[in-house]
Amino acid sequence: MLSGKRILLIIGGGIAAYKSLDLIRRLRERGAAVTPVMTRAAAEFVTPLSVSALAGEKVYTDLFDLTDEAEMGHIQLSRVADLVLVAPATADLMAKMAQGLAGDLATTLLLATDTPVMIAPAMNVRMWEHPATQRNLAVLRGDGVSVVGPNAGDMACGEYGPGRMAEPLEIVDAVVGALADGPLTGKRIVVTSGPTHEPIDPVRYIANRSSGAQGTAIAAALRVLGAEVVFVTGPAEVSPPEGVEVVRVNTAREMRAAVLAALPAEAAVFAAAVADWKVIAASDSKIKKVAGALPVLEFEENPDILAEVAQMTEGRPTLVVGFAAETNDVIDNATAKRARKGCDWIVANDVSPETGIMGGSENAVTLISGSGAEAWPRMGKHAVARQLAARIAETLV
Ligand code: CTP
Repeated sequence: MLSGKRILLIIGGGIAAYKSLDLIRRLRERGAAVTPVMTRAAAEFVTPLSVSALAGEKVYTDLFDLTDEAEMGHIQLSRVADLVLVAPATADLMAKMAQGLAGDLATTLLLATDTPVMIAPAMNVRMWEHPATQRNLAVLRGDGVSVVGPNAGDMACGEYGPGRMAEPLEIVDAVVGALADGPLTGKRIVVTSGPTHEPIDPVRYIANRSSGAQGTAIAAALRVLGAEVVFVTGPAEVSPPEGVEVVRVNTAREMRAAVLAALPAEAAVFAAAVADWKVIAASDSKIKKVAGALPVLEFEENPDILAEVAQMTEGRPTLVVGFAAETNDVIDNATAKRARKGCDWIVANDVSPETGIMGGSENAVTLISGSGAEAWPRMGKHAVARQLAARIAETLV
């Protein structure tokens, strides 16, 4: 997948540096060559010896190593790679990159390079949320740097929130997406994801518990296989993947308009949890509480985007995939839904509360197609996404 590609991996000085060892292994498994560079602080967390052993290459650590300058100057070192990957990218490294500082080998390479740069930030949640870091992030994005993660979760420092470095496999996926040609290269695929918000008045809305995790993972997996992905997302918890065209919407109607505008496409995957109803005549001003008088909300049905696209007579995507979240009679209900909506596949999942799937990291999926129901083993949402993307690729070839 990455054979013939060279990654210049800059390891910053943070606790997440230990994950860079696994990252090197995963990149090499996929055929990439990895030239490691460590900041001085990184060497406090992992040893240059382990890094170089895993990379199977010399590790570069200091700007003023005269032998290195004779063998391979730092300018040249920054240019031989297909991608410069900074993992972990600490707050300090991001700040230096945003400022264009070049006080050591890592930052000099980052300033001298003319190849694409990707960063995997990792830091304490407060540092990540600090306006200075967010400012630097915006500057880096503006400079064309792509960003993978960070994820939310428990942190080594005992706090919780965004700041954990993306997992090595997610970083590898982003690298593959940035570098590799895959079976879906040149194919346009629309993916809907996340919940929709249906306004009641300017401050209140009706929503659902979808985190957007499964739709985001699917978009990322399709991108890895080379697809040109238009990612139409409601207000989701999970950030959109790198390398896809993101269209942000709030309501079901906005989602429908965005999907129709994104067509034609070879495939469309409807992973969004679209609200079935909207409030008729949402109020333009905040509904005030009046003693003894409860407000009455009237609803009307939202357009069914999946059904509409699946039943298009002209310009229908070759493959239309819907999701069904069911709590009972999963296969029967999903099979009926496939017929009713007219889509090619339904990815059915059992979301009864005891499964912990809604909002969780795993999924238990049954794929319903014209040839019947196929139960997949329970697995992570990323694994489901990879398997589904692979099936889509087989079908579209
Ligand atoms: N969907 C859509 N537009 C809607 C509603 C749902 O595109 N207005 C898509 C979802 O993205 C998903 C599938 O349709 O792919 C889910 O079907 P859904 O209609 O939500 O199931 P329901 O019929 O609402 O479920 P139930 O049978 O429980 O009503």
